[in-house]
Amino acid sequence: MEDTAITPSTNTPTSNAQASGGESVLKIWGKQPLQGQVKISGAKNSALVLMAGALLCGEDCRLRNVPSLADVERMGEILSALGVKLERHGDVLEIDSKHIGQSKAPYELVSQLRASFFVIGPLLARLGVARVPLPGGCAIGARPVDLHVRGLQAMGADVQIEHGTVNAYISGGKRRLQGAKIYLDVPSVGATETLMMAATLAEGETILENAAQEPEVVDLANFCRAMGAKIRGAGTNTIVIAGVPNLHSADYSIIPDRIEAGTFLMAGAATRSPITLTSVIPDHLAAVIAKLRVIGADVVEEGTNRLRVVPGVEYRATDIKTLPYPGFPTDLQAPIMTLLTLCEGDSVITETLFENRLGHVPELNRMGADIRVKGNHAIIRGVPFLSGAPVMATDLRASAALVLAGLAAEGMTTIQGLHHMDRGYDDLEGKLKGLGAKIQRVTLEEEPGAAPAVAAPEASLLTSP
Ligand code: EPZ
Repeated sequence: MEDTAITPSTNTPTSNAQASGGESVLKIWGKQPLQGQVKISGAKNSALVLMAGALLCGEDCRLRNVPSLADVERMGEILSALGVKLERHGDVLEIDSKHIGQSKAPYELVSQLRASFFVIGPLLARLGVARVPLPGGCAIGARPVDLHVRGLQAMGADVQIEHGTVNAYISGGKRRLQGAKIYLDVPSVGATETLMMAATLAEGETILENAAQEPEVVDLANFCRAMGAKIRGAGTNTIVIAGVPNLHSADYSIIPDRIEAGTFLMAGAATRSPITLTSVIPDHLAAVIAKLRVIGADVVEEGTNRLRVVPGVEYRATDIKTLPYPGFPTDLQAPIMTLLTLCEGDSVITETLFENRLGHVPELNRMGADIRVKGNHAIIRGVPFLSGAPVMATDLRASAALVLAGLAAEGMTTIQGLHHMDRGYDDLEGKLKGLGAKIQRVTLEEEPGAAPAVAAPEASLLTSP
């Protein structure tokens, strides 16, 4: 990504397709063996929340290893609209939150990026007031924020939801939020992060019980501690934050994206290619590596921060249940489903976190997979091969599942709905091309013959998360 100052705009192209003015599709010629190594980018789900966390500090902050993603650009626009100055130099993001001009995040930007809700905790803690549009649901579920709201109320904020906007201010004549003991009904990643950020500047001690343990939560805690916050227990189910009056600047490097890494491990397994991943943290992938080994693809650590896929000859079916970390990550449920379509026997995937995260099933079935959905379970009967076809991505991780399917399938696959992919994968097709994949992004004008994919009916009702 070139050096740019990020300024609020509503027409920033968020993918090559929009940049080129027409919708683009991804064409993949399958059965190409992959080889070589790929460097994993910084974690999307760290970058987004750390950018919001920089609002807590009235001095310059520097984030390194920031991925080039449409969602990161959108978060930058939201911060700019609040008065934050941002400068991007390659994968380094300079953030100057000295002068936050206002406490209201613009609806037209928030509605494009759910993660923008993360600004509510820092704005409230820093300014004493925050007005953030309620993030709507998305393709994968209702995505409520009741735990965020109830936690802020427990810390002394008056929070009202009026006309689709969450209006919060510190009440009771207090200048700062008050430390509180908060039990989260579910170990919500977002709620844990919102409340941890709010608590860093509160008066007194906050204890978050049943907190999320994801690596991105730990990354946020480490970034806040680099700014002078007093946090302990991040990565366990109990996080203790002792509030301080203010935070100072920090220069912090974001962890690698474990979901991108898992996606590439599965790409290697699905195409039976011994590829190597660099800049990964193997511990973050323990559940994923364990499942790949059960299926029959080994994953070996080659020195620090390097993993290599050792594909197997026969793959065996297995059952997978998505769970909060350290369980199997819901964000890799769609990609591993693609691999399971090619395993001998019947597998069952149970999606326990989101109520509508099986949108990729009809599209995989168009490619010859044999998957039936019953409630939040997908029953996958292995088939000897997949066949290329025109398909439609319904959400971010579904797009990755379809790319993997295209790489493994016989013949050519065209994938529409690339705006989903561009939100959360940093140059996925460039990285795959670098590994030898035969993959090309073309605009529909260039491809008059591309029969537009007829998405499954429910897919067309979905909005992007
Ligand atoms: C984060 O979403 C990630 N997004 C998601 O990644 C990820 O799938 C999810 O955590 C689970 O790991 C970012 O970090 C930006 P949750 P989040 O709050 O915070 C319920 C991707 O593909 N819940 O842990 O929204 C909720 O309905 C994205 O990169 C409440 O009931 O997830 C869900 O069932 C998708 N009330 C469960 O908790 C609340 O107030 C887990 O959601 C909040 C959540």
